[in-house]
Amino acid sequence: MKANADLNAVAKRDAKRANAAARRKDLVAATKTRVKALAAKIPAMAKNRPSGVGIGLRLQFAEELVSTKATNASFVEIAPENYLGVGGYRARLLAMAKERWPVVCHGLCGDLAGAAPLDQEYLTELKQFLRDADVHWYSDHLCYTHLAGVETHDLIALPLHEGAVRRAAKRIREVQSFLELPMAIENVSAYMRMPGSEMREEDFVAAVVREADCHLLLDINNVYVNSINFGFDAKSYVDALPLERVLQIHIAGHHRESEDLLIDTHGASIADPVYDLLCYTLRKMAAVPPILLERDSNIPPLIEIEQELETLRICVEQCHARA
Ligand SMILES: [Fe+2]
Repeated sequence: MKANADLNAVAKRDAKRANAAARRKDLVAATKTRVKALAAKIPAMAKNRPSGVGIGLRLQFAEELVSTKATNASFVEIAPENYLGVGGYRARLLAMAKERWPVVCHGLCGDLAGAAPLDQEYLTELKQFLRDADVHWYSDHLCYTHLAGVETHDLIALPLHEGAVRRAAKRIREVQSFLELPMAIENVSAYMRMPGSEMREEDFVAAVVREADCHLLLDINNVYVNSINFGFDAKSYVDALPLERVLQIHIAGHHRESEDLLIDTHGASIADPVYDLLCYTLRKMAAVPPILLERDSNIPPLIEIEQELETLRICVEQCHARA
């Protein structure tokens, strides 16, 4: 009898072990399937249209950002000029970023309102770069970047008049048509009203967008900075813009030099009045466009940038929910 009882106990124990092994096998298989599905989603995400909040990819934190598991950034922005014809470390970082996120390309030296002939060699290189980056649009600034044929490495505000509207719009149409991509132009920060100006800045920007039949990259911080520097109402400025043409928003911090002078440094956290203006703008829009945090100087550790992205994401959600 005892021998039979022992055999039964052994059989039960073996059955229990077999069940446990089968459950472990199922669990391992399920985990593998889930990991495979998640891995498959990462390159798919990179092909998506940019949305949510993003960050300008800066070398100071790029390596940490591309290798971090959890980030609040849902897209990244780069300046093609920093990557054109560049291999090695930078090219590898860009390839990793492209695998992980949608990348938007934002030009720095397109000289969209300039007088010199368009630089065909630069545009041809740029076109190939944008194709390789698989972007949905291209943006650059509504300003001069060259003076008397010399690249200034600066964004120089335009005289605001009808002639400048026509010249900028013609040039933007040409660039847009050559690149075969939708283009968005960005309103720039300024510190003096250029001689010959006859229009309000918001009317000038709106007129160029309409005449060029292009889109707008609305920099909320630039609107606020200019509203203090030139003494206009930032919300009225926003009211005058064709908001249905906004493809993307920029937001950043600035430096307060004095009561009536702000410097667009991208070197500080977003100021409260800029958040307020963002909220005001989003409530007027039918859908929230992708919003990019620009941080180009006085760059903090990545954890602080992540915290600011999180604050921005929550602010956007709350503003839109209240709209
Ligand atoms: Fe900007």
